[in-house]
Amino acid sequence: MTSGPDFYDEQEAFTRYIQRRQRPDNPNDTIEKPVFMELLGDFHNTAILDLGCGDGRFGAELLSKGCQSYTGVEASKRMVNLAQEQLTPVGGVLHHASIENWAYPQATFDLVISRLALHYVEDINGIFTLVHHALKPGGKFLVSVEHPVITSDNSAATETGIRYNWIVDNYFVTGQRDVRWMGSQVSKFHRTIQDYFVGLQRANFTIEQLREPHPQLEFITDNELYNRRLRIPLFLLLSARRND
Ligand SMILES: C[S@@+](CC[C@H](N)C(=O)[O-])C[C@H]1O[C@@H](n2cnc3c(N)ncnc32)[C@H](O)[C@@H]1O
Repeated sequence: MTSGPDFYDEQEAFTRYIQRRQRPDNPNDTIEKPVFMELLGDFHNTAILDLGCGDGRFGAELLSKGCQSYTGVEASKRMVNLAQEQLTPVGGVLHHASIENWAYPQATFDLVISRLALHYVEDINGIFTLVHHALKPGGKFLVSVEHPVITSDNSAATETGIRYNWIVDNYFVTGQRDVRWMGSQVSKFHRTIQDYFVGLQRANFTIEQLREPHPQLEFITDNELYNRRLRIPLFLLLSARRND
């Protein structure tokens, strides 16, 4: 099993990921981010915790747009090095730690966010409880993950990652999936949409939004790519509020 952080610490996988992540038409920026920003809403003067913060660019952006503080948790050393360059000059706080083992402070954050990291975590319900503990009462938890249609079965994934159709199989067989992605092996954890939804409710959150971001021509200018993006859902987003 190769954990998410170990995958991002492999030189080749890391280089490929960064190249792909910085391509202007990448699905994170053109499909996931617009909806993530919409659900984030007004974050002025909020204390934000970001689980699996990656290269820190998003943290630097949130700080430049007026959040009160930003704390990133990231377990890949290569990612932490990049994040340090982004966050140190703008006053962001960074912890080189895993989402599972970081010492979560109590009732500290107005907003906990996590973009495309929690499908690498096995015990999602344990993390929901930790997030509940770290949020101030009434605080918001906003998360995006790879869509369960994608995590159910990766046997159709190609080396290049280009998908024209997708087999949904073993949807209700939840748990670990060892997949080949961007030329390397990585373990992801599949669960159903209902598992995310009910897990948040059981951890004492009220779900406020559930989204499967639809591609938008405003962000994807290439028609062929837009038509391909209409075929398969890539992301699931959930926004939830701490109940007490
Ligand atoms: C797909 S990247 C997304 C990075 C960033 N959130 C973004 O949207 O640009 C996933 C990130 O989550 C991190 N990650 C995965 N599992 C983790 C864990 N258990 N603890 C901490 N970080 C983790 C990876 O190292 C990687 O940087």
